[in-house]
Amino acid sequence: MKIALIAGSNRRNATSTKLLQYMEGVLRGRGIATTLIDLFETPLPMYSPDAEVLDGHTSAMKRAVAEADAVILGTPEYHGSISGALKNALDFMGAGEFSGKPVLSVSSSGGAVGVSSLTQLQAMVRNMHGINSPEWLSLGGDARQFETDGAPADAAIRQRVERTLDSLVGLAALLRPHAGAVSK
Ligand SMILES: Cc1cc2nc3c(=O)[nH]c(=O)nc-3n(C[C@H](O)[C@H](O)[C@H](O)COP(=O)(O)O)c2cc1C
Repeated sequence: MKIALIAGSNRRNATSTKLLQYMEGVLRGRGIATTLIDLFETPLPMYSPDAEVLDGHTSAMKRAVAEADAVILGTPEYHGSISGALKNALDFMGAGEFSGKPVLSVSSSGGAVGVSSLTQLQAMVRNMHGINSPEWLSLGGDARQFETDGAPADAAIRQRVERTLDSLVGLAALLRPHAGAVSK
């Protein structure tokens, strides 16, 4: 099984990116192959329907998502919605990359929870013909603390990460049986 993760902040030390990096480590520990696309490390040009040639970062992202059995989208909560960087990245893709594929949405917010961005992200997933995972995860307020080893400081968040990943991986195994079993 392969999972692609898109970290949708273009901020250095973004907590949403730290959360996706932690999730990637958990997935690898379960024997799942991962690709993390970090939009701070690999920024994309502004999408234009008129552009005829894709740059290297954009092509690599589209390939990683197309080849994945499941996708995790991470976003900071900006003005009750997702980041411009993630929306721009999603505009380069569509059903070709997402159709029939389980997708987990994750956010980080200044407030206690950032569910406005998660609700909007799930609507975008549906419009790209992806399948929203039944769980989502919002890291908000004081929960946005990480240990030096990269783990969320809050034990409840660590448990929720396990639960949301159980749900995503279980859904991927049902929908894409060719992806093969993974160790847990
Ligand atoms: C432009 C902007 C808009 C924001 N809007 C919201 C918001 O609507 N609700 C909220 O709870 N926090 C808001 N915040 C705070 C961020 O959600 C918070 O700093 C979050 O941790 C950012 O995620 P990051 O650490 O991944 O960059 C906003 C921050 C910025 C820079």
